[in-house]
Amino acid sequence: MRIVLDTDPGIDDALAILYLAAQPGVELVGVGTVHGNVAADTAAENALRVLELVGWGDVPVAVGARRPMAQPLRTYEHVHGDDGLGNVAGAKPKGTPTEESAVEQLVRLARRYPGELDLLALGPLTNVAVALLVEPELPKLLRKVVVMGGAVWAPGNATAHAEANIHNDPEAADLVLGAGFDLTLVGLEATAHAIANATWLDELAAHDSPRARFASGVLGHYVDFYEPLVGVRQCTLYDPLAAAILLDPELARYRELPVHVELRGTHTRGTTVADLRGYQDTTAERPAVKIAAELEEAEFLDRMLRALQAGTAG
Ligand code: BDR
Ligand code: CA
Repeated sequence: MRIVLDTDPGIDDALAILYLAAQPGVELVGVGTVHGNVAADTAAENALRVLELVGWGDVPVAVGARRPMAQPLRTYEHVHGDDGLGNVAGAKPKGTPTEESAVEQLVRLARRYPGELDLLALGPLTNVAVALLVEPELPKLLRKVVVMGGAVWAPGNATAHAEANIHNDPEAADLVLGAGFDLTLVGLEATAHAIANATWLDELAAHDSPRARFASGVLGHYVDFYEPLVGVRQCTLYDPLAAAILLDPELARYRELPVHVELRGTHTRGTTVADLRGYQDTTAERPAVKIAAELEEAEFLDRMLRALQAGTAG
C-alpha cells in the first residue's frame, strides 16, 4: 500500500509511524509536517528522527503550513513535551527536510500516482486544504484519505465539543470534509476505545529493543500528562489507531454521514457536526464520509504492542 503521511509529531504521531513501519507491504512515499502539537519545523525534525529509527531515513520529509488558515497558532508542548517527543528526543536527526513544501509534495505525489496513493492525515488539515486549493482534482487523484480527527457523537478533548486536530484549524477541516474524498474520520468515538492501560504499558516497558525503548520513553511524558486528568495510568493511542484503520478497515465499523465543522459557535467552534437522527439527507449538501466507531479493541491493542516490539533486540 502506497501512503503519504501528513503529521505533527507529537508522541502519538511518532507511534503511528512505528506502527506503519512494522506492517508488511507499506510503501511510505513522503511525509509532510504541519503545525499542531508543536511547530511544523520541530515536527519535521521529529519525523526524521523516527524515520531514521525504523530504517526509513530515505523517505522525504517536507515542512508544511506553519499556522492555521484563520486563527492564531496554538501548540501543545504541555502534552507532548518541549521537543514534541516527551523531552527525550535526543540528538538531532541526520537528515534535513526537503526544499519542497508539504503542500507541493502532496500535490506532486498525488499526480504521480493517480488512484494509487492513500493519505493518512494525523494533524490539523491545513496542508490538505491548501493542496485542495492548488489541485481541485485531489479527491479524484487520491485513492482514499484517513483522518485522525473529530468527535461526532463523543465529547471533545481540546474543548468540551471539539477534537484537537479539527479545533486547530476548523476552516481547513471543513474544506476537506466537504471536498468529496473517499474519507474515513477516525475520531474520538473510535479512539475512546484505543486505550493503553497500565498492564499494556508495563508489557511494552519490559521489552528490550530500540523501538520499544523509544516508545516507552516518549510515552512517559504523555501518561504523566493524562494521569491527573483521568485518574489512572493510561493514555489514548489516537494516531496509531488511524494508521491501523487505514491498513485494516475491518478493525472498526462505520456510519456514513455528511459532516460539517462548526466555524462560529461561542462554545462549539471546531465541533464536527452530523445529523444523527437517521433521516434521509435529501439536500445532498455535501458528500458523506465514513465515521469510525465500534473498534475491535483487543485486536488493535495487540497489533500495536507487537508493532512496537518489532525490530531486533539490543
Ligand atoms: C490528536 O491531536 C493531537 O494532539 C494528537 O497527535 C492527535 O493527532 C488527538 O486529538
Ligand atoms: Ca497528531
